[in-house]
Amino acid sequence: TGLVTLDPGFMNTASTESAITYIDGDEGILRYRGYPIDQLAKNSSFLETAYLLIYGELPDEETLDAVTRRIKRHTILHEDFKEFFTAFPRNGHPMAVLQAGISALATYYQHTLDPKDPHQLETATVLLMAKVPTMIAYIAKRATGLPLLYPDASKSYVEDFLRMTFALPYQEDVDPALVKALDMLLILHADHEQNCSTSTVRMVGSSHANIYASIAAGVGALSGPLHGGANEAVLDMLGKIQAEGGGVDDFMRRVKDKEDGVRLMGFGHRVYKHYDPRAAIVKEAAHEVLGKLGKSDELLEIAMGLEEIALNDDYFVERKLYPNVDFYTGLIYKAMGFPTQMFTPLFALGRLPGWIAQYREMITDPATKIGRPRQVYIGETERQYTDISER
Ligand code: CMC
Repeated sequence: TGLVTLDPGFMNTASTESAITYIDGDEGILRYRGYPIDQLAKNSSFLETAYLLIYGELPDEETLDAVTRRIKRHTILHEDFKEFFTAFPRNGHPMAVLQAGISALATYYQHTLDPKDPHQLETATVLLMAKVPTMIAYIAKRATGLPLLYPDASKSYVEDFLRMTFALPYQEDVDPALVKALDMLLILHADHEQNCSTSTVRMVGSSHANIYASIAAGVGALSGPLHGGANEAVLDMLGKIQAEGGGVDDFMRRVKDKEDGVRLMGFGHRVYKHYDPRAAIVKEAAHEVLGKLGKSDELLEIAMGLEEIALNDDYFVERKLYPNVDFYTGLIYKAMGFPTQMFTPLFALGRLPGWIAQYREMITDPATKIGRPRQVYIGETERQYTDISER
């Protein structure tokens, strides 16, 4: 035990070997199973990328068709389960409902809980990919009180998600430009090696907890503002700057003075010490989507103003702080019509195949041991108990 080393935040400790995602933070490189993120963002679809992450290879047409059909067959939720979404206060945070909902899937699909049984794990994989978008759409609908729509297997995965989220019955057209943009954003979020939520999924799963419990824990980790919650925090920050008159200089001064711990949300990354390759793609998409929707957004101007200052300011340059994936995504989600609180559930939907792939890799790797970090004890040494009357 004398050899235990202290590494807060795992700055320099690898928790696992993995063959799923490669990041070179100094060069700004991200690849899923060897395929560069920009090629996937441009050419792939979310389900195809999900297949790649989970099974290791790009599917041929027949395989992708079969997998898509299998997932679409399961998008519907148990009727009883729909009650669940109305049982929480309407203004309760969607991530809290999503986390609870995902762990509750274990109660409906008890025949899929043994992670050591490949058939059960395969079924759980399909069920998660199928049910989570429906759940997120229902969580969005519950805030507005609009009727819940049944999934429609004739629509594409992403189109059906948008339709269930926004459409009224009999009024169900979804703008194909939005489908394409969201599909691409989901690809960008689909995996990012051993980030906080993924490490959580692996840690929980290392006790052989079922995949629903493990991924629900990952949703909890993702909700924090230093992780997936940053996309929501960025929009709140931009809105506040706008409400205060749009002056970015004073805000940046406060960030650099670390006044009240205020940070430039959507900036900085543990691994990227270079422009986050995802952020570059999202920035371009933000211009494209807002342009297509004919929405000029003052918040986009503020965001670009902040970025320009940051990229030329010693504070950010010295610390190698660049925009991360969360900096521009919220602006696109907002233009699409998502309320701010729905941004992080969208991240969760994107990250779902990554969590599944990492859980499966963890559970089938013979080198996996239960996650159990050591500590460096700094408390009292031995003391003798005294009676309460003598303290
Ligand atoms: N604004 C201002 N200063 C910052 C920021 C920021 N966004 N990020 C880091 N710094 C400073 C930090 O104060 C520290 O300065 P000093 O050396 O003077 O103490 C230095 O840069 C190193 O920061 P750190 O907190 O030690 O770095 P970390 O690797 O522990 O944290 C991070 C990484 C992403 C949590 C952090 O950069 C951050 O809080 N960013 C804002 C939140 C955010 O955008 N999160 C999304 C991350 S990407 C997608 C995702 O995972 O969801």
